[in-house]
Amino acid sequence: MGATINRLNRPGYENRSVNRSENLSEKMPRNPSRYEAPYYERTEPTTVPVVLTIAGSDSGGGAGIEADIKTFTSLGVFGTVALTAVTAQNTTGVPGVYVLDPDFVVAQVDAVATDFTIGAAKTGMLANSAIIEAVAGVVKRHSIPNLVVDPVMVSKSRVPLMEEEARRTLVSTLLPLATVITPNIPEAEAILGMNITTTAEARLAARKLRDLGPRWVVVKGGHLEGETGYAGYAVDIAFNGEEFIELSARRYATPNTHGTGCTFSSAIAAYLALGLGVREALCSAKDYITWAIANSLSLGHGCGPTNHFYFRGHK
Ligand SMILES: Nc1ncnc2c1ncn2[C@@H]1O[C@H](COP(=O)(O)OP(=O)(O)OP(=O)(O)O)[C@@H](O)[C@H]1O
Ligand SMILES: [Mg+2]
Repeated sequence: MGATINRLNRPGYENRSVNRSENLSEKMPRNPSRYEAPYYERTEPTTVPVVLTIAGSDSGGGAGIEADIKTFTSLGVFGTVALTAVTAQNTTGVPGVYVLDPDFVVAQVDAVATDFTIGAAKTGMLANSAIIEAVAGVVKRHSIPNLVVDPVMVSKSRVPLMEEEARRTLVSTLLPLATVITPNIPEAEAILGMNITTTAEARLAARKLRDLGPRWVVVKGGHLEGETGYAGYAVDIAFNGEEFIELSARRYATPNTHGTGCTFSSAIAAYLALGLGVREALCSAKDYITWAIANSLSLGHGCGPTNHFYFRGHK
């Protein structure tokens, strides 16, 4: 008998459980010499939006391109990849980083962009200035729409994932091309050289970051805990130059938040590719990351990953 996992029971949402009681091995003949799969009716023409992630690999599977692809798959878009770096990584740390050649990053984007119509793209770990410049160049050359820039600088385990000077290159070349940027608090502080300890300061930071050229800024509040009036909530500040949106969710007391940033930014890209406007994409992505944290997985010996699957909550 299998177990029933993941009950989602919130007002306005489908109550969905995933039942694994079906015992597949019982249906299998013993020692078959031939097995024929069922005939499935074709559903052509079938197509889904294509989304590109330009980011590093996390061998632990909870962050990086692995988190991106899982998010894309869960949200029903087709994920493609331009890998920038390979990390030896797990839930406790990052023992190794191997950075790829910028020309090879460009070759991957060229290969994808000349074959598919890309609906949206996201960037994650870009490692160094040469890769950032190369990525900015190839994004412009292919006029890739709906670019979400997650300015990844350090891992959850506090290992630097971007060289110092690369931050300046990121600001001057890539941020101006972005539809949305999604710095966390330490990244916003590093880019702006200011301290952010309150939601009011996060709003000020969002304003200053918007001046650097992106259409929308989301200053993520995962690292901003315990402020009066916001205690118990994870609040992100979105700003487009005219209006602020507070993206708020109940804060879960869990150590399993490995890859929250990658998952959130790739969900934004997925929803943009699915045709939502930026406001709706941000709210839907907030919903998805909240669900993924609420159902996060106790795997490994450190910060476990979020749960990317079985999200069917959006109406
Ligand atoms: N404990 C939590 N409960 C609910 N939401 C959270 C929690 N921690 C983070 N979030 C939300 O997750 C999203 C990602 O934010 P976060 O600040 O964790 O990103 P990050 O630091 O870039 O993550 P990463 O370390 O994976 O790169 C935001 O929407 C944030 O509000
Ligand atoms: Mg991050």
